[in-house]
Amino acid sequence: MRILVTGGAGYIGSVVAEELLKSGHAVTVYDNLVKGHKQVVAPEAEFVEGDLNDSDLLKRVFRNSEIEAVIHLAAYSLVGESVQNPAKYYENNVSAGLKLLNAMVASEVRKIVFSSTAAVYGEPEKQPITENDKLQPTNPYGETKLAFENALRWYENAYDLKYASLRYFNAAGASKRCGEMHEPETHLIPLVLQAALGKIPFIEVFGEDYHTRDGTCVRDYIHVIDLARAHILALDILDERSAIYNLGCGGAGYTVREVVDMAEEVTGLEIPVRIGERRAGDPAVLIAASDKIKSELGWQPEYQELRVIIESAWTWLRNHLQKARASHTTSS
Ligand SMILES: NC(=O)c1ccc[n+]([C@@H]2O[C@H](COP(=O)([O-])OP(=O)(O)OC[C@H]3O[C@@H](n4cnc5c(N)ncnc54)[C@H](O)[C@@H]3O)[C@@H](O)[C@H]2O)c1
Repeated sequence: MRILVTGGAGYIGSVVAEELLKSGHAVTVYDNLVKGHKQVVAPEAEFVEGDLNDSDLLKRVFRNSEIEAVIHLAAYSLVGESVQNPAKYYENNVSAGLKLLNAMVASEVRKIVFSSTAAVYGEPEKQPITENDKLQPTNPYGETKLAFENALRWYENAYDLKYASLRYFNAAGASKRCGEMHEPETHLIPLVLQAALGKIPFIEVFGEDYHTRDGTCVRDYIHVIDLARAHILALDILDERSAIYNLGCGGAGYTVREVVDMAEEVTGLEIPVRIGERRAGDPAVLIAASDKIKSELGWQPEYQELRVIIESAWTWLRNHLQKARASHTTSS
């Protein structure tokens, strides 16, 4: 199939595109580069610089490139920013997302895999979280993702569009070519590695008095290649049905302290840590269960170990910085 990957110049989308190509699909990346980087788009993929709001361009791409399905990752995803500026999040994650759905319906493209988030569950009453748990997002980011999920349900009802919504927490790690370079970076693993390199002075740990194994919060990390493969598996059901799947480590997760300790082991460098206050609304544990996607689609994570996740991120980061230095020297 030829798949349109929206947000395919971003962190997860670039790896989704790589994995799609490896599994024999053809790929068109559609990205406005507001956060993405053109150089991470695989050379074998077609690249269209475009915005979700550009309905005419979307329809042209659907027709000319003979797109059969969409993997939709283009969105804004900073929780704090979404609280400060909900309009930005409703406009991009909901309103612009609906333009994509409308262009799909108009072009008779009826399959979509949607990059949702476990933030749709808010602060869950039990762990690990399963797909039937209460949906009660605690910030506009989670609300906008839930609004889009709800739209998918109604679009299926009215227009027979089939969808798979994948709800996940922290994508982490890197492929050989593609890694995490958000601006600003808010994710723990890249920040810890930046602290190891002295690019930021220290890592702030928000609270060490939680009822967890070492007092710091437990979070769910999933390797970006495992995540990308789940998107591809999800494509296969769309001839017949729609579905919602959690994607998470399901087990004990990793504490913030364990991440820092493992990063010190992998890098061989000391990582300065400062203990700060708890952040309002930070649950002690957030873990998503992946039993449903494992049993229904046979998804099996290959790179789940924390050491493997951090090693891949570290290798990528050093290569990336080396290349950046080399291109700076050549251009100056
Ligand atoms: N990174 C995570 O840990 C995580 C966890 C759960 C869910 N998600 C979801 O996964 C998706 C990808 O996340 P990421 O970390 O790769 O983010 P990212 O910012 O690296 O990638 C998003 C891409 O979408 C593009 N984009 C945004 N708005 C657009 C628009 N209107 N038109 C065209 N392109 C647009 C950006 O330029 C960027 O390349 C997002 O939808 C995010 O909500 C991410």
